[in-house]
Amino acid sequence: MSSLTLKINETSHTLENVLPDMPLLWAIRDLVGLRGTKYGCGIGQCGACTVHLDGVAIRSCSTPVSDAEGKEITTIEGLSSSGEHPLQQAWMETDVPQCGYCQTGQIMNAAAFLDSNPNPTEEEINQAMAGNICRCGTYNRIREAIQLAAEKGGNS
Ligand code: FES
Ligand code: FES
Repeated sequence: MSSLTLKINETSHTLENVLPDMPLLWAIRDLVGLRGTKYGCGIGQCGACTVHLDGVAIRSCSTPVSDAEGKEITTIEGLSSSGEHPLQQAWMETDVPQCGYCQTGQIMNAAAFLDSNPNPTEEEINQAMAGNICRCGTYNRIREAIQLAAEKGGNS
């Protein structure tokens, strides 16, 4: 056990008595108290726990916390302080969520994707989002919202 410092949403958090192989998701939710990131499968298969590490979408349930030290971690709470990220706006306009559980991961994955590809085709969206599971089947609205956000400038 040791202490380590994580930079999450531009704020540094020093955590004590942390095992280096503890999942990053545990640190984000249980030690730092940011509960927007969700626990789904715990084995990297559903995408519910997606956050950004240096701008890249990763699965925090299967990323050791020690891998995140010294990097910029962004969670849904840090995507936009005002909730006005084009994806968040598009999500509301398109009324995407049903139960809502998977939606944090969907938005975080979509945000990293649009940063790398601001004008995606429908097929590119489908491919990029294929690993994020929604048990409520909101896939069509997710695609519509990503297309809308891209039109509005989703990488801003
Ligand atoms: S909870 Fe991390 S991928 Fe499912
Ligand atoms: S909205 Fe319910 S799991 Fe996706």
